[in-house]
Formats: sequence, structure tokens, C-alpha cells
Amino acid sequence: MRTIPEIQQEIRRRKAETGVCILAHSYQSPDILEIADITGDSYKLSAAAGKTDAKKLLVCGVRFMAETAKLLNPEKQVYEANPAAGCPMAEQFSPEEILAEKAKYPGCAVVAYVNTTAAVKAVSDVCVTSSSAVQIVGNMQQKEILFIPDCNLGAYTQKQCPDKHLHFLSGGCPHHSSITPEEARAAKAAHPNALLLVHPECKPEISAMADYVGATSGILNFARKSEQKEFIIGTEISIVQHLTLECPEKRFYPLSNRLCCPDMRITSAADILRVLTEIADGTAQELTLPDETARAARHCLDEMLRLGG
Ligand code: 13P
Ligand code: SF4
Repeated sequence: MRTIPEIQQEIRRRKAETGVCILAHSYQSPDILEIADITGDSYKLSAAAGKTDAKKLLVCGVRFMAETAKLLNPEKQVYEANPAAGCPMAEQFSPEEILAEKAKYPGCAVVAYVNTTAAVKAVSDVCVTSSSAVQIVGNMQQKEILFIPDCNLGAYTQKQCPDKHLHFLSGGCPHHSSITPEEARAAKAAHPNALLLVHPECKPEISAMADYVGATSGILNFARKSEQKEFIIGTEISIVQHLTLECPEKRFYPLSNRLCCPDMRITSAADILRVLTEIADGTAQELTLPDETARAARHCLDEMLRLGG
């Protein structure tokens, strides 16, 4: 069996041979982030996917991230490192359900979290990520907004944009939204000197207890720059690992060991090497989207980049 460094070396060789650009979300494991060309949260990956010159993109994350890369680069070949990795939140509502809800609020704009399928983006007006939602909603002309699918990110955005009127569905991340105030109180009691940093996908009562609320990139930057030495991390547990490696002089604790996304954990370096090998021999399965869905969904991503840029 090959070791991780051997697999990484082979990945680098295959990347050079195939010209593939690897995009990896910050929740991926350190051995994947080390061999990726572009790493970051959903917004950074989306913006970078639209700018790279590479003709082939391999996405390490979950399906909506690969779909986003394809929507922004219809002429490029896009591959998923592990096609079994999906985001349960992205599948919570169908386009028909969104249109039925929209009909209740005449004249409203539909703002879709990027954690949605291409088909749902196709019936939405603007896309947002957790790091751009407040800025984009604030920059929109419309006052009435149907914010889908994450009602927790929606509630956070509503608080920051009091002049807008947001309507919600009851969607959300099954992992972030499962954290209870009791768990947050217990983590704070166990680490009384630590600051609590949480992702806005957590429930509003958890965000209300936090010292900082922000997207993955915001949490990473806050912890890196802070003069404080201890932090409770209220987002996917991989971020505890990354920060511990990056800032050995600081201490990072998970808000809960349940804050673990199996879909984000499923991809391995061996998966990446397998897909690169298949790309090299012409047998890799490309991600495709129906033309009409892609055209309509692209509009809402272009709006995201215009209003959030
Ligand atoms: P970011 O927008 O912070 O990258 O988060 C994506 C995600 O899936 C969080 O659970
Ligand atoms: Fe989806 Fe939650 Fe996993 Fe993020 S952490 S990919 S929102 S299920």
C-alpha cells in the first residue's frame, strides 16, 4: 500500500501531465489541501473557478461546489474527486417548492445560498455564500427577499440587514443546526478563557452566545489574527485541525464533536489520484448539466460575483 506522501507525489506528477487545476474546500483534510492549487471557502472557490486558465478542474468538496465550478466554466471539463459527496442541505427543496413559496410574496427576489442544486439556482435571482450574504443582500435593490434554504444563515443576514424583509423556508445544515445551547454552554464552561467563533449556519441562539460569527474564511482569519490564545470553533471539526497545525502556540477546541460533515470527509487523496489517472487515460466521468438549467443558474452566480465582488 502506498503512503500519503507517495500518493501526493503521484498526484503532482499526474497534475503536471494532465494540466488539471485542483480546487479544495477548507473542510478537506490537510493532505488534500497540500496538493490543491486553490483552497478556500465557497466564495473563494467560486471566484477562483471563474478566473483560472486551466481547461480541466477537479473539485474536492461536495457536489454543489463542482456544479458551481461547471456553471462558471461551461467550456471547461469539471470532475468531482468523489461523486458520492453531496450536501444534504442542497437537496432539501425542489425548484417547484421554491417557486410555490415565491408566489406567496409577489415581487420578492429569491436569494439562494450557494449550497443549492443547479436546478434551484436556476429559479433564483441571486446566489450568496456565507461570507458574502450580508454584503449581497445589503446591495440588492429589492426589499422583499425569499432567502433559501438555510433559515439560520437567513436569520443572521436579516439581523445585519434590518432594512430588508427576509422570508425563510425551514432548511439548514443538519450538522451546524444540530448544536444546542446546552452544548455551547458546556464548551464555554470547559474552556472559560476561550473565545467562541461560530458559523452562521448554527442556530441564532448559538450565534447570540458567540464572540464572533462568520464564514469559514472569517473564522480562520479571526483566529489567526487574534491576540487571544484559546478558541472554541463552532464549525466543521476539520477547521480545529487546520488551525492547530497552523497556529501551534494557540489552543483550539471543537464546539461539539458532532460538528463533523461526513460528506466533506469522504474524499481521500487516493480518490484524487484515481480521477487524475482516469482523466489521463480518457475514462473519467465529467460533470454535466442540462443546457437550460446551466444558462438560468449561471445568471444567479454572475449576480453573486457582481454584487459581492
Ligand atoms: P463556507 O461558505 O463557509 O465555505 O461554508 C460552506 C459550507 O458548506 C459550510 O457548511
Ligand atoms: Fe452541507 Fe453542512 Fe456539510 Fe456544509 S457542513 S457541506 S452545509 S452538510
